[in-house]
Amino acid sequence: MTTTAVRTVALPSGDLIPALGMGTWHMGEDPLRRDTEITALRLGLDLGLTLVDTAEMYGDGLTEELVGEALAGRRDEAFLVSKVMPHHATRGGTVAACTASLHRLRTDHLDLYLLHWRGRVPLAETLAGFADLLRDGRIRQWGVSNFDTDDMIELMSLPGGDAVQVDQVLYNLMRRGIEYDLLPWCAGVGIPVMAYSPVEQGLLLGHPAVRGVAERHGVSAAQVALAWVLRLDLVNAIPKAGTPKHVHEDRAAAALRLTPADLRELNLAFPPPDHKVPLEMH
Ligand SMILES: NC(=O)c1ccc[n+]([C@@H]2O[C@H](COP(=O)([O-])OP(=O)(O)OC[C@H]3O[C@@H](n4cnc5c(N)ncnc54)[C@H](OP(=O)(O)O)[C@@H]3O)[C@@H](O)[C@H]2O)c1
Repeated sequence: MTTTAVRTVALPSGDLIPALGMGTWHMGEDPLRRDTEITALRLGLDLGLTLVDTAEMYGDGLTEELVGEALAGRRDEAFLVSKVMPHHATRGGTVAACTASLHRLRTDHLDLYLLHWRGRVPLAETLAGFADLLRDGRIRQWGVSNFDTDDMIELMSLPGGDAVQVDQVLYNLMRRGIEYDLLPWCAGVGIPVMAYSPVEQGLLLGHPAVRGVAERHGVSAAQVALAWVLRLDLVNAIPKAGTPKHVHEDRAAAALRLTPADLRELNLAFPPPDHKVPLEMH
């Protein structure tokens, strides 16, 4: 299944990102897993999973350090995403947080810098920080994470707010709330959704409905959960795989096409929302 190219998702900027990337939360926290995690990330690059998602929050910087090591000598192959924590996201704080991230990541720029979630700092302040970083080339573009529809509308109404490239949110079979309004709204304005925790941190893997579909296709439950998220053109997914085996498996999911019968079965087990569900987050 791995021979099919990973499809791409177009950002408003015109950049094309792979629909399947790699998450990194908790990587670098356990010294015993470090070598395997670095091998997994490098394998992912080899296989076309070239979007790497990290954050200053992960492991208090340990994860960014591990990503920096994994990308050493290969930085140009990756579309590198990191995030600023809300309490750092003043104008000066955003610039300082990004500078520290760049140091840990051993690079001079990020391809995409996200506000991790909305805090008390006015959005205009964070936008001013992003503008400073854009001006001196430390970030190529910026986006947000964990923004619900009303947050997105407010953001877009601010000067420069319409330069947002992506909303990274929790989306998987168990967390379908965004299908009611956020996803259609993003589709309407052409802002891609980056789906985090696409296998619900492993919880989906034992679900009988997911396993049933997986058995029919002769694939794993993780692959079904990923293929389900990837069925939408506007969505990209960033599963975290800490072992080469899981990277190979996740990569192969990019070639898996679920049938209408599969989707019907999954809809019965995980009904789509019929009312507004406030955005959930991990
Ligand atoms: N913006 C935000 O607020 C936010 C929040 C949460 C996550 N994220 C980002 O999204 C990424 C993904 O989300 P997540 O880490 O929360 O959860 P996830 O990707 O849904 O699940 C990760 C878990 O699934 C396992 N896994 C991956 N592929 C597998 C496979 N083929 N077979 C069996 N198990 C498999 C991993 O195990 P192994 O580690 O053993 O491979 C890990 O335990 C994060 O790493 C992070 O970069 C962002």
